Amino acid sequence: MRFLVKLLSAVIPLSLVLSGPVAAREWDAIKQSGTIIVATEGGFQPFNYYDGPKLTGFEVELAEAIAKKLGLKLEWRVVPFDGQIAALKQDRFDFAIASHGYTAERAKSVDFANPHYCTGGQIAAHKDGPLTVAALDGKTVGVQLATSYADAAKKIKGIKTIKTYKGDPEAFAALKAKKVDAWISDKFTVKATLEKNPDAGITAGEQVFVERVSMILRKNNKGLAEQLNQALAELMKDGTYKALSEKYFKEDISCRS
Ligand code: ARG
Repeated sequence: MRFLVKLLSAVIPLSLVLSGPVAAREWDAIKQSGTIIVATEGGFQPFNYYDGPKLTGFEVELAEAIAKKLGLKLEWRVVPFDGQIAALKQDRFDFAIASHGYTAERAKSVDFANPHYCTGGQIAAHKDGPLTVAALDGKTVGVQLATSYADAAKKIKGIKTIKTYKGDPEAFAALKAKKVDAWISDKFTVKATLEKNPDAGITAGEQVFVERVSMILRKNNKGLAEQLNQALAELMKDGTYKALSEKYFKEDISCRS
């Protein structure tokens, strides 16, 4: 028995021996199990959010369509955005769809699928507040932790303080309460948030940068990357993607360049 354990641990990574089967699996293992395990955040409307008790949104429905194309059941894992890359590296799910913009820094530790939409970071503030990059001079800006908006804010010269929040709903609440002068987030998230809060007196300002957003996978999980890219391409061809995009944005937000 001892010998067997020794022999097994020589060929199987220790993490597997200790914790049993893990996620972030190779394509063959996923296919065999019949279920794909996908992470999202659930706090980023209209991409991934809760409508009452129901997890929904453009990315949630898109991932469900991808799983269907692949002939798999989908099991959701709801993970805070700032913990997703670390959780992926610990193999806690097969991939994440939570609006990760491509950055060289992230690409050091995870792989990106082909982009499922193109977008930009945008400033929002009270109507008499700082609505341009220039106007952020000396101001306090709220952003979600570990996002490209936090990175963008750091690069803007003159900002007095950057306050980070666990999620965008918290960052928006801080803006509403005037704990920060401005909020930087995704332009579609800003739009959806302002539509739901028409009386907040908050308006969308200048766009700060553009980004390409993708599902993220464990590094070198090539088989799964191919399957996701192919399923996405098919959904873009057969009209499913367009219908979903029109439903949430009234336009096609795919990267056409
Ligand atoms: N697009 C931004 C980024 O790449 C923010 C993504 C935030 N996603 C979320 N589910 N809250 O950092």
